[in-house]
Amino acid sequence: MEVKFIPTEQLKEKPDENALGFGNYFTDYMFTMDWTKEKGWHNAVIEPYGSIQLDPASMVLHYAQETFEGLKAYKTKEGKVLLFRPDMNAKRFANSNRRLCMEVLPEEMFVDAIATLVSREKEWIPTIEGTSLYIRPFMFATESAVGVHPSNAYKFMIVLSPVGAYYPEGVNPVKIYVEDEYVRATKGGTGFAKCGGNYAASIAAQVKAEKLGYTQVLWLDGVERKYVEEVGTMNAMFIIDRKIITAPCDGTVLPGVTRDSVIQLLKSWGYVVEERPLAIDELMEAGRNKTLQEAFGTGTAAVISPIGELSYKGESIIINDFQTGEITQRLYDTLTGIQWGKLEDSFHWTYEV
Ligand code: COI
Repeated sequence: MEVKFIPTEQLKEKPDENALGFGNYFTDYMFTMDWTKEKGWHNAVIEPYGSIQLDPASMVLHYAQETFEGLKAYKTKEGKVLLFRPDMNAKRFANSNRRLCMEVLPEEMFVDAIATLVSREKEWIPTIEGTSLYIRPFMFATESAVGVHPSNAYKFMIVLSPVGAYYPEGVNPVKIYVEDEYVRATKGGTGFAKCGGNYAASIAAQVKAEKLGYTQVLWLDGVERKYVEEVGTMNAMFIIDRKIITAPCDGTVLPGVTRDSVIQLLKSWGYVVEERPLAIDELMEAGRNKTLQEAFGTGTAAVISPIGELSYKGESIIINDFQTGEITQRLYDTLTGIQWGKLEDSFHWTYEV
């Protein structure tokens, strides 16, 4: 892929690595590329980060044909730049785009564009513990038209943000509110796709949970509100009687890259992992009788995030005395160890830029 480069007149000052937060700073450059029926993918450019112009009738602004991804770049002690399983993000992006009737970006172009931008911006990868360079690829409909149909033009972009922990709690346990009014997804919908619309629809529940003092919501299935699905920005896993249980990816749950990696790690350590519907009643009962040993979320932004408390219909259960569990900690250490190039990558997950 040929990428034009437009240099910036002024490089930005880099933020303090100790106070990054999440998604607050953006690097000097961004990647943009267009697609039209006539020209296919064209106009690949790395240019100074900044505003873009959109026609007010751009279809994304009206019918939300928009998809995105999230992955991270890490810098090893030796100065190598590593991505984590970018091929998985490329595949999921393609699946999201198929579901929203958007143009599918070839997987190798997706990875190539990320590698080219990250390699130019490697000075922006923070190096202190718990930080990384968050990569946000996204695509949206740019045809100017009022009328619901697949757009005949799209823009693909990548922006980069040096980040610390996603939650203010850092790697400490979070409090989760089990949402029993709003729903996130139903079979046949867009639950498995990473599209902005899913997140827009989730904000009301998130606001409600935060008002009540919780960090995130745990979604129940959209039909019976009986089975546990996922947490706002991560997949959820529960350890009951030494078995790890997580919702199956059967259309309503986001197929997380961290989720898949954690399942592979757990199985390689000899644990039983059950991908099956878990009823909220079974989960709360396991919490009451203390057979619920650990709970945690998995996600690119959240990494591995211990869940210390669950609240459902006015009842609260505390998990593992609100402490990070042994398996949760081992997963966090192993996963971040591989991502940072500190541990052997026996699964061949890292991709050197
Ligand atoms: C991620 O984990 O990368 C996400 O996209 C979650 C969130 C920041 C929307």
